Formats: sequence, C-alpha cells, structure tokens
Amino acid sequence: ARVAVFVSGRGSNMAALLYASRLPGAPYEVALVASNDPDAEGLALAEAEGVATFALSHRGKARGDHDSAMEQAAREAGAEYIALAGYMRILTPGFVQRWEGRMLNIHPSLLPNYTGLDTHARAIAAGDSHGGVSVHLVTEDLDAGEVLGQIRVAIRAGETADSLAERVRFAEHQLYPRVLARHVSRPFDAEWLLGRVRALAL
Ligand code: GRF
Repeated sequence: ARVAVFVSGRGSNMAALLYASRLPGAPYEVALVASNDPDAEGLALAEAEGVATFALSHRGKARGDHDSAMEQAAREAGAEYIALAGYMRILTPGFVQRWEGRMLNIHPSLLPNYTGLDTHARAIAAGDSHGGVSVHLVTEDLDAGEVLGQIRVAIRAGETADSLAERVRFAEHQLYPRVLARHVSRPFDAEWLLGRVRALAL
C-alpha cells in the first residue's frame, strides 16, 4: 500500500514508519512526506532518504485551500492511506470524510484520556500510574476515532513531562509502524464499504 505521511516538526515517527517500510515483507511504502512547514526537520530527512516531499505553508491561506493542496499532493503521489505523524493542523471535515478508515494519527496518551495538548503534564498532574501512546483512525472529532493500538508507559517517581515524553516516544516508534502495517493488511471489510456507499448515496 502507498502511504502519505503528514508532518509538522521533527518527524521521528515518520522516520520510524519509513525505516520499518524498508524491512523485508513490509506491506506499505512511504510514497510522500508532506508538511505545512517548509522548514520541518522531517521534510529534510525525507529528502535525504530519497522520499518524495511536498511542502506548503498554511500561513495566510484558508484552511480549506491548504487542505485541498495537501490532499491533491497525496493523491498525485498515489497514496491510499494517510498517516498523520505530528501534523499540527486540524483537517477540514470534507478531507477527513473522504479518507475515512484510511487516515491514521498517533497521539501521545492512552485515549480516550487526554485528547488535545500537554498530555504528559496532565497525566503526571493527575497522579496516573501510566501514560502512553495511541494510534487511532481520524474522524471529525479531535482524537476520537477508533483506537487501533496502544502501548502503556509507566510514570516513575519524579517524572517530568519531558522525561515521560522521551520514553513514550520510544513506544511510539514501536507502535506506529506495526499498527499501520496491520491496518493496510486488514482483510476487505464489506460492512465498512457498505456504510461508505450508503453515506455517499445520501
Ligand atoms: C509525537 O509525540 C506524536 O505522538 C504527536 O506529535 C509528536 C510528533 O513527534 N502527535 P515527531 O515529529 O514524530 O518526532
């Protein structure tokens, strides 16, 4: 399967997805790395690795126009799936709907706990025993789609948001490639397809 990865920053999850795709037998390839920030570190890495890239700053553009350009780039790259990996923009509903079931995101908490930002600080402040990471399908509601996989990460005494984030990132890099590989290999889901046909017919 061909996957477009959307990044806004460092791109360490993009790197994990890319390198896992180079293992023998990997069921997906990274067809494109796209970003709303032309200076994103992840873009430079993708370029160095010979992966096609697309960059378009969101600044001064209507959200819908920016999304359209990103979506078109994904389509032109032949992407069948989109993996959001630290992509810091909320997508317009039409975009999300067109990719329903084929757009994944990684979120640094044990969803449904701590949607949104500052997840690690909030888990520590609440006295939680564990933080973690989730990979989920993207729906219109922020961080609310079906959870496809999670890894729990213990919160130690004296933990800071930064130290927890660093350890959770190790878990992220294990989780995302595996969940993506499993998702693109999922047997044909007739019920899901029927639902899509009904939705489009309305
Ligand atoms: C990760 O913590 C991910 O869970 C969150 O954004 C961060 C992206 O990091 N959505 P990177 O750019 O992949 O290094």
